[in-house]
Amino acid sequence: MEIKFDKDYLFIEDAPKHILDWYGWKYKTSAHTDGGILSVHKGVLKSLYKIFDKNIIWNNALDWCAGDGGVGMMLLGSKMVNNINFMEPYPKALENLHENLSNNNIFANVFELDKIKNLTGKYDLVIANPPHNRIPTLQRMYELEWIRKNKVYPLKYEDALLDFNKKNPHRQFDYWWKIHIEFFENIEKNLNPNADVILIENPLTFNPLFWEWGKTNLKLKCWIDNNQIKEFSFPQVVLHFKYE
Ligand SMILES: C[S@@+](CC[C@H](N)C(=O)[O-])C[C@H]1O[C@@H](n2cnc3c(N)ncnc32)[C@H](O)[C@@H]1O
Repeated sequence: MEIKFDKDYLFIEDAPKHILDWYGWKYKTSAHTDGGILSVHKGVLKSLYKIFDKNIIWNNALDWCAGDGGVGMMLLGSKMVNNINFMEPYPKALENLHENLSNNNIFANVFELDKIKNLTGKYDLVIANPPHNRIPTLQRMYELEWIRKNKVYPLKYEDALLDFNKKNPHRQFDYWWKIHIEFFENIEKNLNPNADVILIENPLTFNPLFWEWGKTNLKLKCWIDNNQIKEFSFPQVVLHFKYE
């Protein structure tokens, strides 16, 4: 599965929608709903096979920050989960997610939420590719000319830095790690004993010293990064936490 990108793909309002063969499913994604799994899926899957037994199956899994569902559909198609649930607040992504589920006859709960504190259900696996911290990400996007200084379209650098209006929520930045902090503050109530939590992060910016994480029973077991997995062609880390 080779997917070609060009840098404008991310921000063109009416960019073509892609229908891909995706782990046995038809997967619809578009400029405003793909949150990155297209470029990291091989590395993520390889990391999971490095961390866990090849035959592992989680019974009930949550794809948090699901976007249009690429991560959860990958796990379901790879037969790594029996049941998948999705959580995502962004309407455009939800539109594609619902379409992906109905086109493939996948039964799943979709939580249209932005706070873990409002999430119901208990999970054996929570996996996510969450929004990352903003400043280094923005600098990189600016260098790549995905955002441009002093141009209204697609987003001015200055505006992006202050993007509290979430003009581009599909690649939204996690201001001051608020989304991550709220996750660690509230996720334990949704975890079954021995649950696994997998976060796909940027190793250059992820700050593991969250006070809120320290107060949980989530133990960081290991991480796999782009030094170990050649399929990650840029800094990327897969973190494995165990709920103990
Ligand atoms: C980096 S993208 C990942 C999307 C998809 N999982 C992928 O890997 O392509 C992050 C996603 O998190 C969503 N998001 C933003 N704030 C959120 C929140 N508070 N709770 C859950 N999801 C959130 C965004 O709308 C976006 O779709």
